[in-house]
Amino acid sequence: SSQQEPTVTGTLALSVFTAVLGSLEFGYNIGVINAPQKVRQPILMQRFTVLRGTTGTLTSLWSLSVAIFSIGGMLSSFCVGFISEWLGRRKAMLINNLLAFIGGGLMGMSKISRSFEMLILGRFVIGAYCGLASGLTPMYVGEIAPTSLRGALGTLHQLAIVTGILLAQVLGLESLLGSEELWPVLLGVTVLPTVLQMALLPFCPESPRFLYIIRCQEHHAKSGLRRLTGRQEVGDMLAEMKEEKRRMDMERKVSIAELFRSPLYRQPIIIAILLQLSQQLSGINAIFYYSTSIFIKAGVQSPVYATIGAGVVNCAFTVVSLFLVERMGRRTLHMLGLGGMSICAIVMTVALATLESVPSMSYLSMLAIFGFVAFFEVGPGPIPWFFVAELFSQGPRPAAMAVAGFSNWTANFIIGMGFQYVADLCGPYVFLIFAALLLFFLIFTFFRVPETRGKTFDQIAANFHQHSAGGMMDMDMDLDLGKPSTELDYLGEES
Ligand code: GLC
Repeated sequence: SSQQEPTVTGTLALSVFTAVLGSLEFGYNIGVINAPQKVRQPILMQRFTVLRGTTGTLTSLWSLSVAIFSIGGMLSSFCVGFISEWLGRRKAMLINNLLAFIGGGLMGMSKISRSFEMLILGRFVIGAYCGLASGLTPMYVGEIAPTSLRGALGTLHQLAIVTGILLAQVLGLESLLGSEELWPVLLGVTVLPTVLQMALLPFCPESPRFLYIIRCQEHHAKSGLRRLTGRQEVGDMLAEMKEEKRRMDMERKVSIAELFRSPLYRQPIIIAILLQLSQQLSGINAIFYYSTSIFIKAGVQSPVYATIGAGVVNCAFTVVSLFLVERMGRRTLHMLGLGGMSICAIVMTVALATLESVPSMSYLSMLAIFGFVAFFEVGPGPIPWFFVAELFSQGPRPAAMAVAGFSNWTANFIIGMGFQYVADLCGPYVFLIFAALLLFFLIFTFFRVPETRGKTFDQIAANFHQHSAGGMMDMDMDLDLGKPSTELDYLGEES
C-alpha cells in the first residue's frame, strides 16, 4: 500500500493503551494465584479449609482454583467471534468489564464471607473475562494499527500480560499483599485496571475496519481513521478496505465450521491453531504455574525471588521482541524462540539430572530456566496472539480468533492440570517432552508459516486464496517439504 510513514497519534496510543489494560488484567490473574504457589497455597486455602474442617482436600481445592480459571477462559474465548460481531469490538470490551467486576468482587469478598465457593466461582468468572480479553484485544489492536506497526503494537498485548504477571508476583510477596490478612485485597485489586479501561474506552474510536467492512458505515469509519492517523486524507486506506470488502461481500459471514470446510481457510486456520499450540505446549506455563517447586528441585536458595527474576526476564525480552518484530519478521523470531527454548530445555534436563553429583548444576539450571523464558518472549509469547488476526481478513477473522483462543486455553488447561503428574512420573526428564514438541513446532513453522510483516490483510488473504485456487499443483507445492515457506514463496506476487 502507498502509506507514508505512519505516525503514532495520541488517539492511536490511547486506544492501544486502553485495549491492553485488558491484557494487563489477564496477566495479573495468571500471576496472582499461581506464582509463589507452594508459599501462598497454604496461606490462602488453610483459611477456608480450617474453617470448614476439610484439610484433606487442600490440594485438590487448590488445583480446582487453578483449573477453573482456564475453563472459564475456554468457554468464553469460544464466544469472541459472535460477541465482537454483535456488539462491535469496543462495546464488547466495555461489557466484558462486567465480568471483571463480578469476578474480582467474588474473590475479594470470599474471605469475609468465609466461602471458598466464592473464590472458586470468582476464578471462573475472571477466567471468562480473560478469555474474552485474549481475543478482543489483539483483534482490536490489529485492526486499528497501521500495517507497518501491526506487529509492534500487537506485541504490546503480550507486554501488558507479562507486566501483569510481574505485578502480581511482586504484590504477592508476603511483605506486601500476600499476607494472611491482605490476600483478599491481592485478588480484588484486579478491578482497578477495569475501572480505568471503562473510563477511557469512550474516548477510543471503534475499529474503522469493522465499521466500514461489516457495518457499512463509511462516514463513521472515515472519521475514526482520521482520528487514528491524524490525517485528513484517508482515501488510500479506505480504498484498501474497499478492496477487502469487495472480496468479502462475495463470501459473506464465515462460521467456525466453514473455517475448516472451505479450502480458502483451511490452511490459515491450521497455522493459527498450531501457533497457539506452539505457545502453550512449549511448556512456558509449567514454569509460570510451578516455578516455585521447580526452583526448589533445582536447589535454588530463594525460589520466590527466583520466580520474580523469571518475571523480570519475561518482561525484558518481550521488549526486545517489540523492537525486533518489524525488522526481523514474525517467522524468524518465532523460529529463533522455539529453537532457543528447545536447547534450554535440554540444558535444564542435563543440569537437573546431574544435580545430585554436581551441586553447582543448580546455577546452570536456573540459567537455563531464565533462557527458556527469554526465548519464549522473543517469539512464541507475543507472536501467536497477534498473528491470527493478521492471517485472516475481516470476514473470517472473528471465527478464527475464537477457534485460536479456544485452542490456546485448552492447551493451557492441559498443561496446568497435567504437568504435575507427568513431572512426578518423569522426574528430571520431563522437559525433554517439551524439547521434542518445540522441535516439531520449529519444523512446522519453517515449512508452513508465511511471513506477514508489512503486508495488508488483503494481501495476506489473497495469497492463501491463490494457493487454494491453484488446486492440485499448489497442493503439491505445499506438500513439498524440501521447500521452506519464505516470504517470497508466499507473498512474492505483490504488485
Ligand atoms: C502468554 C501465554 C500465557 C503465558 C504468558 C507468559 O501470554 O498466553 O499463557 O502465561 O505468555 O508470559
